[in-house]
Amino acid sequence: MDGLKDLQKKYLSLIDSQKDLNLLEEVRVSILGKKGELSLKMRELGTMSPDEKQTIGPVLNNLRNEITDKFLSKKYELEEIILNKRLETEWIDLSLPSRNKSKGSIHPISQVTEEVSVIFSEMGFSVAEGPQIETDWYNFDALNIPPEHPARQEHDTFFLHREKDDIRAPNVLRTHTSPVQIRHMISNGAPCRIIAPGRVYRCDYDQTHTPMFHQLEGLAIDKNISMANLKGTLEVFCKKFFEVSDIELRFRASHFPFTEPSAEVDLRCSWKDGKLEVGKGDSWMEILGSGMVHPKVLDAGGIDSSIWQGFAFGMGIDRLAMLKYGIPDLRAFFDSDLRWLRHYGFSALDQPNSHTGLTK
Ligand code: DAH
Repeated sequence: MDGLKDLQKKYLSLIDSQKDLNLLEEVRVSILGKKGELSLKMRELGTMSPDEKQTIGPVLNNLRNEITDKFLSKKYELEEIILNKRLETEWIDLSLPSRNKSKGSIHPISQVTEEVSVIFSEMGFSVAEGPQIETDWYNFDALNIPPEHPARQEHDTFFLHREKDDIRAPNVLRTHTSPVQIRHMISNGAPCRIIAPGRVYRCDYDQTHTPMFHQLEGLAIDKNISMANLKGTLEVFCKKFFEVSDIELRFRASHFPFTEPSAEVDLRCSWKDGKLEVGKGDSWMEILGSGMVHPKVLDAGGIDSSIWQGFAFGMGIDRLAMLKYGIPDLRAFFDSDLRWLRHYGFSALDQPNSHTGLTK
């Protein structure tokens, strides 16, 4: 029993003298661990007589509890010292300015696509989409452009590779958004009013051409539709898009295989100090191609051309953006130059469109 009193003194002062958490843990293991001194002593209880067990057992138990408590309080003490040291050295200067968050902007093409979609949706058009990789049937044949037609050459088409023994005509990167007309007719029938904005591809590159650019297709089919409806629709569109109350459109006879009759549409305008003014002046600017959907195209879309007729139009979204926002070089649209994007980009919060009420 006296021996145990000595042990108690020895353990308690050993724990008390520790200055380091790791060393403290080592001391704990040397006393209370599996092979610790006290644990071995407790194991000896098994060899004692019942009388001895009754007297020594409780004493050993108390000693173990006392040492565990001592150990824990020492541990908290050391942890607190460590924490206080960290708090002294690590601190936050709340008066510092916050870090700059880099902020993106809306690309002019996204902006114009949004503006155009809003204007047409207010006239009852919904947005349709189609794949960028097309079969030659959708891109050409169904649009009344047979293989020998010169328009195929004019499109500077990108063809996709086929396996050596595959004799099917190669797929193409769509050269215009017009194939979406056919896809929509086949899957939705008539009547319909859609616009189809999207990427198109042609092998061409200079200040006003890039191999990838954006078009917007329009298609309206009904039983009683004429060029007059086309003209009215385009006039409303131009007024809203260019934010002017007076505009004048000129329909110039033209040719597209998929429309009959076909017209290119010019907008009256003037250029003042390199800035475009829409609505007045002595210049005309071509903005789109259009016409009445060719009966062969309706037939290819599975629509009875003896009952239904429609108008269609196609315009360049990038070109619209260049005109409206005075952007001189098309190639810069796709350079991802941050300075350009900051200059010509739009804030997400002040998107001028009819929803936010920022357009006229
Ligand atoms: N697909 C024509 C092009 O890429 C544009 C076009 C012209 C579309 C007249 C039309 C249209 O729907 O009626 O050049």
